[in-house]
Amino acid sequence: MSHHHDAPDAQHGNEPENPFLDFQGTTPYEDYVQADVLTHLQHPLSDDPGEMAFLVTTQVMELWFTVIVHEWQTAAQALRGDDLPTALAALKRSTYEMESLNASWKPLAHLTPGQFNAYRSALGEGSGFQSAMYRRLEFLLGEKSASMLVPHRGAPRVHAELEKALTEPSLYDEVLAYLARRGCDIPAAVLDRDLTRRYEPDPAVERAWQRIYSEAKADESDLIRLGEALTEVAELVWRWRNDHLAATRRAMGAKPGTGGSAGVAWLEKRAAKNVFPELWTARSHV
Ligand code: HEM
Repeated sequence: MSHHHDAPDAQHGNEPENPFLDFQGTTPYEDYVQADVLTHLQHPLSDDPGEMAFLVTTQVMELWFTVIVHEWQTAAQALRGDDLPTALAALKRSTYEMESLNASWKPLAHLTPGQFNAYRSALGEGSGFQSAMYRRLEFLLGEKSASMLVPHRGAPRVHAELEKALTEPSLYDEVLAYLARRGCDIPAAVLDRDLTRRYEPDPAVERAWQRIYSEAKADESDLIRLGEALTEVAELVWRWRNDHLAATRRAMGAKPGTGGSAGVAWLEKRAAKNVFPELWTARSHV
């Protein structure tokens, strides 16, 4: 965003050039970043000074979800075109982004129930459970569910995006189709599965990963790299879920959630799910 022309007040001596100050309209920074929009989207619902951190942390996480969805879609599309290097680069970027996403739990990780209560009732029935971008992230992992579209019936664009994500192959579906094209033994029932349903682990897929990890042929070392990139993604998703669980436990104990679930007990069940399940179970047989 910086370009050079002669700045009149930087001509004398060894003064370093000063930045440009004169712009016709809004600054090029603003035109690119839309910081004025972004920093005026914070509308707390209570008078509690602690609510701002809760709201902004949630918004920051929504932005990271958006980038990560973009990376995984890039990876899925690259795999569809048999372009593994592009897919690996996108997965690698996504793991750095997930580290930042997970680090953003910090401001919410030590809330006392009293501090959380100061704005909790103002949230009404609002809950992260209703995050459409998080749902797209789960769909890309293979955690599909048509009923997760129901909360978004009133928002046509969001609903259409989610419906598309529900019917498209997940990142893992594209991985398995790619493995099949690379000569791995992936059953037709897996390759032709109903894409709108949750991915269920398959013993033949576990055997495929086991074979890759224990007896990869000379030209298959890149498949181990793919397996490891996906394992890293899976572990970081698991960490996000568990950090969320720990923050929730500290902030509200066993009370029901604002979204209507049993709260911690419901989140525990969600956190226990294995992402890319066969990549974990195959390890017992290598
Ligand atoms: C201390 C703060 C938080 C508490 C106490 C909390 C609590 C909960 C609870 C109890 C649920 C279960 C659904 C319900 O009944 O509401 C839930 C779900 C969820 N929350 Fe939070 N949450 C917190 C912060 C956040 C933040 C900052 C985000 C970021 C977007 C977030 C995203 C989510 C998501 C995506 C779900 C759905 C998870 C799934 O579908 O498996 N939460 N949360």
